[in-house]
Formats: sequence, C-alpha cells, structure tokens
Amino acid sequence: MSLLVTGGVGFVGSHFVRAAVEAGHHVVILDDLSGSAAGGASGSQAECSADGEAISRIAALPGVTLQVGDIGDSALVASLCRQNRVSALLHFAGKIQVGESVRRPELHFDVNFTRALSLLEAARHAGVDNVVFSSTAAVYGTPGHVPIPESARCEPDSPYGRSKRAFEWVLLSAAVAHGIKWAALRYFNAAGAHPDGTMREAHHPETHLIPLALDAALGKGPPLSVFGSDYPTPDGTCVRDYIHVCDLAQAHLLALRQLEHGHSLGPLNLGTGTGYSVRQVLDTAAEVVGRPVPQSMAPRRPGDPPQLVADASSARKRLGFAPARSDLRVLLEDALRSRR
Ligand code: UFG
Repeated sequence: MSLLVTGGVGFVGSHFVRAAVEAGHHVVILDDLSGSAAGGASGSQAECSADGEAISRIAALPGVTLQVGDIGDSALVASLCRQNRVSALLHFAGKIQVGESVRRPELHFDVNFTRALSLLEAARHAGVDNVVFSSTAAVYGTPGHVPIPESARCEPDSPYGRSKRAFEWVLLSAAVAHGIKWAALRYFNAAGAHPDGTMREAHHPETHLIPLALDAALGKGPPLSVFGSDYPTPDGTCVRDYIHVCDLAQAHLLALRQLEHGHSLGPLNLGTGTGYSVRQVLDTAAEVVGRPVPQSMAPRRPGDPPQLVADASSARKRLGFAPARSDLRVLLEDALRSRR
C-alpha cells in the first residue's frame, strides 16, 4: 500500500515507518520536524523526534519520501495523496505533553483537533478512506478500576486527552457519513526502542520515566524525581502498562490489514494488560544498567492517575496482536542500548 504517515520522524511514527517499509509498503512522511533536535522549537507536531542524523536515516529508507510540512496544509496533503496514490492515512503527529496542554489548551486543540480535521478532510477528498489514528490511554482520565476495557467511560482529565477523544468522535462521525474505515489506537505507555540501537526515544523536553531513569543511572542526566509514594497501589507509586514501541508498530500494521479487508475497528487499547509500578521500573532499570538509579522522592505530579493498565483482549481478538518485546526487562534493555 501507499501510506501517508504524519509525524513519521517522531518516536512511534519512525518505528512504524521502519516496520512498514519492511512489510513492503511505500511511505510518504509528512512532518514539520519542529519537535526534533534538528528543527525549531515551536509549533511542533511530532513532539518526540529524532536528531538530524536519525531523520536522514529514516528518509533514506527504501520506498520512503519525506515531505516537510504542516498537517493543516490542505493543498499539500491533497497533492501528496493524489501524486502517491495514497490509500491509508496513519496519523501520528500531535501535541503530547499533558502539562503543556493544561497551560495552553488552545495549542493542543489547534494541532490535535483543528489541523487534524483539515488533514482528514484533505485526505478523504483525495480518495483516502482508511485511517489509523494515534490515540491515548489519557482519554480514560482516572479510571474507576483496572484493567480498562475500551467500553470504560472516557472522562479525560487534560486538554490533551480531550483533544484526542474529540478527534475519535470526528472519525466515528466520518465513518457514518462518508464510510471511512478507521482505528483509534489508544496507546498506554509507549517505551523501548528498536533493538538495533539506531533509534531512540527523544522528546524535547524529555518527561518520561524510562529515558529519564536510564539517563540518571548512566550519569547522563540528573537524579530522577519519583512523583508520589502515597498512591493507593501496592508500593505507593503509580502503576503503568509499558508497551514496546516495536510492538506498537506491528499493531499498526495489523490494524491496517483489517481496514484494507474492509473491517473498521474503532477504538482499540494497545497495552500488555500488565502493570508495573514506578518502583518496579526503577529496580529493573538498575539491574539492567548494573548501577542504581539516583533518585529522590517528590510530590505527586498533578494529573497522574494511580493506575493505568489496559484490558488488552480486544486487540488480541480483533487484530491477533500479541506483544513480543514488551517484557519489562527486554524493553529496558532495548531502551538502554539506544541511550548508550
Ligand atoms: N514519573 C516519575 N518521575 C519522572 C517521570 C515520570 O515518577 O521524572 C512517573 C509518573 O508520575 C508516572 C510514571 O512515572 O506515574 C510514568 O510517567 P511518564 O511520564 O513516563 O508517562 P505518563 O504515564 O505520564 O504518560 C503516558 C503517555 C502520555 C499519556 C499518559 C496518559 O506518555 O502521552 O500516559 O495518562 F497522556
């Protein structure tokens, strides 16, 4: 297939591009690069991005074209879709920082909703009727219980989660009105890196637990602040469901195959169904690095739910998805290799 991949130099997007190329797809990346170390600082769509060398490596993959541009540029999107006979849109680009979304909600709604709507419309008018959207576990807010099925109530706590949920409604409505086939893949905690060590998680700024913990242990970053030890969890720290970015990439390929065969999917959780506490992650990170993770206790981070763990059964049944590299130790070893 010929695929339009927005945010294709970002963390999840770039791992998907690599998997898509290996599966024989032709890929057109649309990315404004402004979230990358090589790009500017503002207006980022691919918040988690690569440095200049990594961007060149992705763009040099066989069958990949990199177009630097804005997802809200309808004329550009339409011409990319028509010229490349694109049949599916994989929409990874977006604002992802929860804290920023609280301070600047209009920015998150502009990129994650308004410009995404313009992207969808331009692609649809150019004949694209398969859409895979990067959604998030943040659409659930603070869940009543875990594991969380897709049928749980969505009450996002942040403008980030609300903007992602709002775009899911757009896709649902476009499916009814125009017959598009869609999947909104609700990622739990994306982590890890390609096992060959050439691609890594690099957000600007970095706020995620695993890269910060590994960098602290390697002496490349400051001691880690553990945000809260008084949560109602077995050891008092927050519990999350960490899924390897290569497993996420494979799940997108499986979703694409379902859409291609005419099966619309709607929202689907992408997690493992197993939760680990911050403490468990830090202990395993120390074992993997062979050094302790320098750390100090800190107050709770506003907006962090105590536990987020996926009910992963729908993706298993409907996609045949079984995570292969999401064992916590394997995931940390891959992440460590990429940071070394
Ligand atoms: N944490 C720390 N110290 C840090 C960083 C994180 O203790 O320096 C803790 C957090 O409090 C949380 C856990 O580690 O309990 C994981 O935090 P991350 O920042 O790595 O990930 P989040 O769970 O906050 O974020 C993920 C996705 C978001 C999504 C969110 C849904 O990255 O895109 O889940 O709640 F919105």
